[in-house]
Amino acid sequence: MAIPGHGVEKKIRIGLSLDTLKEERWQRDRDMFVARAKELGAEVLVQAANNNDAIQYNQAENLLSQNIDVLVVVPHNGVSAGSIVEAAHKAGKKVIAYDRLIENSDVDLYMSFDNFEIGRMQAGYLLNRAKSGNYLLIGGAPTDHNAKLYRDGQMAVLKPAVEKGIIKIVADPWARDWQPTEALKHTENALSRTGNNIQAIVASNDGTAGGAISALKQQNLEGKVLVSGQDADLAACQRIVEGSQTMTIYKPIKLLAQRAAEVAVALAKGEKIISTQSVNNGKSQIPSVLIKAIAVDKSNLDETVIRDGYQIKDAVYKNLASQIK
Ligand code: BGC
Repeated sequence: MAIPGHGVEKKIRIGLSLDTLKEERWQRDRDMFVARAKELGAEVLVQAANNNDAIQYNQAENLLSQNIDVLVVVPHNGVSAGSIVEAAHKAGKKVIAYDRLIENSDVDLYMSFDNFEIGRMQAGYLLNRAKSGNYLLIGGAPTDHNAKLYRDGQMAVLKPAVEKGIIKIVADPWARDWQPTEALKHTENALSRTGNNIQAIVASNDGTAGGAISALKQQNLEGKVLVSGQDADLAACQRIVEGSQTMTIYKPIKLLAQRAAEVAVALAKGEKIISTQSVNNGKSQIPSVLIKAIAVDKSNLDETVIRDGYQIKDAVYKNLASQIK
């Protein structure tokens, strides 16, 4: 826009570097981020790295070469993504770590949910219902700092029960790149090692919960073993109302994506961001914005996920409706 006496105002340009678009949520993150930025007059260049560190680094360099003002990164690898922060800072651009922390770096801001608390909610929910017995823990991608926070939160709840001998953790593997097929394999192994004697599976997200439930199905154990999740994916919400998945964690992505877009635009304008929280990333205290998530099961799915328009009721209850007919 030409302003008399001020020449041409440059349009703000934001780079959004995503690890993946595989899980349903990331498409929402992208769409809501881009929409809010657009409302604020900014343009967003988006890249997705398909779970590959080198690709993500190259894409970030490419974004920086396109004269972006701010870089927003969902790192595939929370450690090696430090090099992306360095490259951006060399180019004089600020970096926001979105949803996942970038460790041991001078990243400018971290915006996410309270991930330790999410882990506590997942395990706490199951422990309330399976007060004794065998537990299988399926962690997320070992390269994702969130996966560690979920595990830490889960263990904070489970450890006292393990120490008292009330529950036993029969295995606690991780699923590479959050792959459902890895969760399926881990569950098959644990079922065969225990002779199908598992009472609860603490799956860290809905994708891995889906993999675990496929393994349960093969043994006719679907619905008989408690399974947690996270993300309120459509498939998971369907499993919850149908009874094969016990709970999920609903994260109001819209809040995070919109706030991140607003902050990115403010940073691009050179405004100072004041945050009341901070998280240690191994190097220093990183200013942080952490949003609360909600535990969801059959009883409150309608008044949370559906009421917010995150999932559509007809789609969630689709298979049940056809059974009733
Ligand atoms: C996110 C989860 C997501 C997982 C796999 C985590 O970092 O917090 O919401 O399911 O990555 O993409």
